[in-house]
Amino acid sequence: MTMTTESVSASAAADTGANLQALPWPYKPLDPETTAERANEGFYKAECMYGVFESIAGATAERLRSPYKDFPFLMMKYGGGGINGWATVCGALAGGAAAFQLLSSDPGPLVDALFAWYETEALPDFYPQNAKFSAIKSISGTPLCHTSITEWCKAAKKHTYSPEQRELCGALAGSVARKAVLLLNDQIAVKPISAALPPATQNCLSCHGRGGVLQNTGGKMNCDGCHSVTGKHRSY
Ligand code: HEC
Ligand code: HEC
Repeated sequence: MTMTTESVSASAAADTGANLQALPWPYKPLDPETTAERANEGFYKAECMYGVFESIAGATAERLRSPYKDFPFLMMKYGGGGINGWATVCGALAGGAAAFQLLSSDPGPLVDALFAWYETEALPDFYPQNAKFSAIKSISGTPLCHTSITEWCKAAKKHTYSPEQRELCGALAGSVARKAVLLLNDQIAVKPISAALPPATQNCLSCHGRGGVLQNTGGKMNCDGCHSVTGKHRSY
């Protein structure tokens, strides 16, 4: 059977498309420090979500070459400032979660571990070599851009939308990318991933979450980040 030029190129395109679409892409451990620097640089190109996602998925795609490197990484720019400046989920975390979905056969525990770490860790814990401002750290208490930035501005006595806050977000992109790669590397090395929610969150959810007596909320965020229920909270 003779194939026309058209049908040959069509089937070649179908093959490369299938490689690109098969999840997960084959991941090999990346260097956490190089990734953190790359995420920080990416932040200044197209914001936090792009910075984190591209530092991991882009580096992997470079190793795998075509068709992987043709992925439109810049689409992740939308996550900047907690999604186009809405200060919802931290875009750096969203970028990490997207990379997990692309590169892990079991992304859920990685997302849980990354988000729980971000809630409680004093961040940033990475600072670029060319940092201009002092490395002040703060604890966000939630995975949200809003609390993350506001708590930091409070601690650093800086304004939002200032050059200092921008540097913070670049450093956060580096911090989150490094942690994300450590988690991916652990998972591929079959090391245990601690994905349990903090006990305090589990306690609240035991009544308010799925299967609880009230079952009137859900999610996995640290409740104390927004609610303070000591004192007049009804005991059940
Ligand atoms: C032992 C079960 C239980 C646990 C644990 C629990 N709650 Fe509640 N919570 C209740 C009940 C019962 C109410 C009252 C519901 C009503 O009146 O409709 C309530 C009410 C609330 C309300 C509504 C405002 C208020 O204070 O009455 C909030 C917010 C809330 N809980 C948050 C939390 C958070 C955050 C935690 C964890 C720190 C938590 N709850 C742990 C049972 C529980
Ligand atoms: C990002 C902030 C935020 C986080 C984190 C958060 N909540 Fe809330 N929650 C709110 C807001 C805002 C409301 C609506 C206003 C209110 O009633 O306090 C609310 C309402 C509620 C209510 C209904 C209160 C009522 O008056 O009946 C419950 C119950 C509740 N939250 C429980 C939780 C639990 C449990 C968690 C942790 C798993 C949690 N929330 C995490 C912000 C938050």
